[in-house]
Order: sequence, then C-alpha cells, then structure tokens
Amino acid sequence: MATSEQRSNRYEVGVFDSGIGGLSVVTALHRFAPALSIRYLADHAYFPYGDRTEAEVQQRARALTAQLITAGCRLIVVACNTASSAALERLREEFDVPIVGMEPPLKPAVERSRSGHVAVLVTAQTADGERLARLHETHAGGARVRTIPLPGLADLVEHGEVADARVPALLRDALGALAAAGIDELALGCTHYAFVRSAIEAAVGSNVEVIDASEPVARRVLQQLAAHGSPVPSGEPSAVVCSTTGRPGAFESAIERLRAAGIELPPLRLVQEAAA
Ligand code: DGL
Repeated sequence: MATSEQRSNRYEVGVFDSGIGGLSVVTALHRFAPALSIRYLADHAYFPYGDRTEAEVQQRARALTAQLITAGCRLIVVACNTASSAALERLREEFDVPIVGMEPPLKPAVERSRSGHVAVLVTAQTADGERLARLHETHAGGARVRTIPLPGLADLVEHGEVADARVPALLRDALGALAAAGIDELALGCTHYAFVRSAIEAAVGSNVEVIDASEPVARRVLQQLAAHGSPVPSGEPSAVVCSTTGRPGAFESAIERLRAAGIELPPLRLVQEAAA
C-alpha cells in the first residue's frame, strides 16, 4: 500500500504532446475538474511531430507514456492528433493503463454540416496517416472532406506567437476561400490550433463553424476515470505539474506569451526532470 508521501507523488492523469498544444486539452480538463492532479509532459526536444516519420513519433509516444506511468500516472492522454494517429493502438496494446487519444473532430463536422462539404486542418504527418483515412471512411458518408495540412502554424503557436501578424496572414492564405467553396464546418485536427481559434474563425468568416476537440476529449477523460473507480475529485484547485524534454526557459516564455495574449490556461508549475 502506498504511503501518504508516495500517494502525494501520484498523478491521476498524465498528458503529453510534442509541445504546448496539449495544454488546450489540459485547460478544458482543469476547467471541468480543477482539483484533478495532472502531470504534463512536452516533448520539445522532438517538436514538431508533424514533420517527423511515423516510426519516430511512435517511438516518442512510447517513451513519454512510459515516463508518465513511472511518475505514477494512472491514465494517459495523448493530447496530440499526430501522436494519436501514429501510435494510439500500439500504446493501448503495450501499456496496461487506460489511454485516451485525440482525433480530428470530423464526425461532428459532418453531422453539423448543411452543405455536405467540410474541411479538416491538420499537421502534415496526420494528413498522411492511416487514422485520418479511416476516419474519412467511417464518418464522411456522402460528405466531401477537404484535408488542409498547415505546416508552420503549430510552430508559431509553439513559440507563443499567437498574436503575431504572421498568424492571420498564414490563415488568410490557407483558409480565406473555404466559405466561397461551400465549406461550412472546419475541424481542428491539431491541439496547437485551439490557441489560435479566434484567428481561425476570423479567417474563415462567420459562415464556417470551427470545431475543436479539447472539451469532448476532457469529458472522455473524466468518464474513463469514473469507469476506473476515480470519480472527479473535489477540493482546492491543483496546479498542473509540467516538464519538458527541451529547454525549460523556452517553455516558460511561450506560456508567458500565451497568457499575455489573453489565452486561458490553468495554474502551471514547471519542474525539471530527466528527459524521456
Ligand atoms: N499538437 C500536435 C497535434 O495535435 C502536433 C504539433 C506538431 O507538429 O508537433 O497534432
């Protein structure tokens, strides 16, 4: 049986992403369950996953999951569409804890579309992945789906440059013509993109609805915890304990920039530890 000291070192939920993008899921989770103890691991040393091979992303996903489980996490959230696309099934085979992944919210986009023409915004690696192809097969039905890889956007967000003039310029070029093409739903298929949601909404215009999966994923995490005997804890809000495989200073300044740009984030406490 765990001593109180050991117990206080355990985390209910371990979350990872290539960088700060997964904090969009953590923010939703903390909003729903402020007292939940959450450990966040950002794989900055290997960012961006969108430009890496599937095998590399699988290897990183395995190392980070193992590190979070060793830290005492009892449920893992792969808060990254790219890593979920490359590795989710393998992680579930290999590790004996519940693992919640992400996928671009294509299903709700298709269900809500009146025009039958939707778009999905993803990293290059997710665009090429089998998982997105399977999602199309399962959920597209008769809808037309345009996949839009957007290299560069996750990088700007990762550096906290959410208020930089390059963001609306990049978005206008990539997304400005969607409404005119008859697209009325846009699914965000990268957790980083949630932090520039309002710029994305401005670029597509009011006739295109933008759908982000952070909240549905956070709800799924709470359901999974309840199903495994850990109901939502009550009590004082906890700070999310964060670490990075990269430079802590760069992580901190990106967070500061996000906060300065008015982005909602939970209290975060950065700790240093050995890289995965
Ligand atoms: N945040 C990640 C995702 O949801 C990807 C960003 C990257 O390219 O590393 O796909």
